[in-house]
Amino acid sequence: MPNLRSIILAAGKGTRMKSELPKVLHKVCGRPMIEYVLDITNQLRSLKTYVVVGFGAKQVQASLGKDISYILQDKQLGTGDAVRRVLPQLKGYKGDVLILCGDTPLLSGSIIKELLTKHRRSKAAVTVLTARLKDPSGYGRIVRDAAGKFIAIREQKNASDAERNINEINVGVYCVKAASLTSAVKQLKPNSLTKEFYLTDAVEWLLAKGESVDTLVTDDETTAFGVNSRIHLAQAEAVIRQRILQKHMLNGVTIIDPTTTYIEDNVTIGADTIINPCTYIHRDVVIGSKCSIGPFARIRPGTRLADGVEIGNFAEVSRSQLGSKVFMKHFGFLGDAKVGAKTNIGAGTVTANYDGKNKNKTVIGDDAFIGSDSILVAPVTIGKKSVVGAGSVVTRNTNIPAGKKAVGVPARIL
Ligand code: UD1
Ligand code: MG
Repeated sequence: MPNLRSIILAAGKGTRMKSELPKVLHKVCGRPMIEYVLDITNQLRSLKTYVVVGFGAKQVQASLGKDISYILQDKQLGTGDAVRRVLPQLKGYKGDVLILCGDTPLLSGSIIKELLTKHRRSKAAVTVLTARLKDPSGYGRIVRDAAGKFIAIREQKNASDAERNINEINVGVYCVKAASLTSAVKQLKPNSLTKEFYLTDAVEWLLAKGESVDTLVTDDETTAFGVNSRIHLAQAEAVIRQRILQKHMLNGVTIIDPTTTYIEDNVTIGADTIINPCTYIHRDVVIGSKCSIGPFARIRPGTRLADGVEIGNFAEVSRSQLGSKVFMKHFGFLGDAKVGAKTNIGAGTVTANYDGKNKNKTVIGDDAFIGSDSILVAPVTIGKKSVVGAGSVVTRNTNIPAGKKAVGVPARIL
């Protein structure tokens, strides 16, 4: 998008979350909710994205990393004040500014593209994204005159009874010319009731100055959804979860029971893999094709499963790499393990990967056979085509050469 900069408001405490964690870092399907908003600005190739941070600023910065321009709002005096902190950065900039809130993880990228297109065509000073909701409670309401012309955005706290009945709401997304934004935000006064500076008042002011205000109205209820409480958080989770599951199913993955399957964002699964019920797959996992996972399996971050891997019930795999056709059909735990192709991991196998200080690696070659109820105290290396007898404890720093058999407690190489 030519000449576009974005501001994401993320300084609020999120009082209604009743949390020590900044609201925008609460996770939805394994990712801080603000990341979904950042996905949109990245998609738009916004020239610069400013994230306004305040409550828990350090935490937010640590979580989102260094590629973003952070602007500090030391006191959370409202959305208008948050934008005011960014104004010095906009000096001399003549393009459009897209303003988003960090607490709207369900926002769709396509509606934002539509908003930008409409804004550029109409040449309005500001274009406001609005939505018609069955239940508008909590949101700012869009007040229009008899002819349907935009008049103001009224926050619920300040709204009259009649205004509260309006079901068109402010999504909290605006596209605005930098110069108009600057002049409007500079003159904002605190709200008489809450003493906060409302960004929404800036729109009314521009209108009074004779500048043109346009709106894009959507009937998509989900895109407008703002997370203000833990109830909203769970609702957002449910929506994104469905989107993720559907994406995988459309890619050729069988999900036998979507109601009990949890797949976080940033998971890749190959075609013809079957995900059985009651399975949880965390973010940053890659699963090949023709695999079978679950029922009751947990695949944790950093795991890579090649094609044809089978992970059965009550199995947990974390930060591990499994070669093609590895079978781990029953309960057990693999952590920080690298397992070669066609190796069998018997029921009850446990990698003891944590020594109280460090996570240590277990390396198992191709075509190996780990007997039931074996404990592999990492670091250990088990060569290809080796066998570990049932009930063995392979102690720390053991290296079982290729083709050998080890049994017992502690395991001895035969
Ligand atoms: C805001 C809008 C409301 C809209 C709703 C959409 C205002 C005054 N109200 O209300 O019209 O319907 O979003 O979800 O803008 N923030 C800061 N600094 C602050 C205060 C807030 O950065 O001082 C950030 C928050 O972190 C949050 C966003 O701004 O990401 C919105 O703040 P929030 O308190 O959630 O506003 P709402 O009451 O939802
Ligand atoms: Mg909100």
